[in-house]
Amino acid sequence: MLDPTRAAPSAFAVHLGEKPNHSSANGTKIAVQNVDFFYGEKHALKDVAIDIFEREVTAFIGPSGCGKTTLLRCLNRSYETIPGAYMTGTIRLDGHDIHDPELDLPLLRRRFGWVAQRPNPFPWSVHTNVAYGAWLHGLTHDAADTDALVEHCLRQVGLWDEVKDALDQPGTELSGGQQQRLCIARALAYAPDILLMDEPASALDPGATALLENLIDELRRRYTIIIVTHNMQQAARLAQRVAMFHLGRLVETGDAVDIFLRPRHEITAAFLEGRFG
Ligand SMILES: Nc1ncnc2c1ncn2[C@@H]1O[C@H](COP(=O)(O)OP(=O)(O)OP(=O)(O)O)[C@@H](O)[C@H]1O
Ligand SMILES: [Mg+2]
Repeated sequence: MLDPTRAAPSAFAVHLGEKPNHSSANGTKIAVQNVDFFYGEKHALKDVAIDIFEREVTAFIGPSGCGKTTLLRCLNRSYETIPGAYMTGTIRLDGHDIHDPELDLPLLRRRFGWVAQRPNPFPWSVHTNVAYGAWLHGLTHDAADTDALVEHCLRQVGLWDEVKDALDQPGTELSGGQQQRLCIARALAYAPDILLMDEPASALDPGATALLENLIDELRRRYTIIIVTHNMQQAARLAQRVAMFHLGRLVETGDAVDIFLRPRHEITAAFLEGRFG
């Protein structure tokens, strides 16, 4: 354990100082209890318990291979497509067990938007990229309805003015940063309440990253967001809560201010100072 009064790395303090602490105001969206996860023989998560609060950004941090992506896969049950993968323990979403056999799995998955490390628009037009999910889930009824939703989602991600005259162009022909925002618009179109973002800025340049960070900060007012990032400055800028993982275990979790300025565990302090990972 560290001395709680120990000096913080000043680079984090600069960002954290600008940010109010929201966590006490918000309720638990997802409760993870006693979760162990296995890829066949590989024990990837060990006794993980964490509450994810609604309308906040929670950053998952930790060295490569510590289980961050695996926990995201548990939350929307997407791990079930991986042969031999299984979990034990309980995950509740709004108080309901996500493994309840009565639960409608497609509906559960729809409540999560997934934003991947590399932008991965469908090889279709900008318009179809956004419209497809809503159409698939029967959320739009006619062309006017669909156009309005596409515009709404593209406006939400700050892309409308950039693409409104190019809605028929392939989504894959946008810049990397635009493609990533298009992928977020695509997720928003099927009305999720949680966004899972796995290193969403790792393929973006600094300008596109700044735009994406502003967007994430805006979206958290309406969505519960979990972001995996290897960029500690980014975690400090964006997150209200932080969860530090190491070797499949959750080392500690808490308000971003506390984790960055007063980490309780030597492993967290070492990771934040770049001494390993
Ligand atoms: N499909 C898979 N099959 C078998 N093992 C896997 C699979 N995916 C991940 N693992 C293993 O599970 C562990 C956790 O992996 P995970 O991808 O969750 O780590 P991570 O924290 O997201 O790492 P990174 O920061 O590199 O993305 C690692 O040891 C990894 O090798
Ligand atoms: Mg990962």
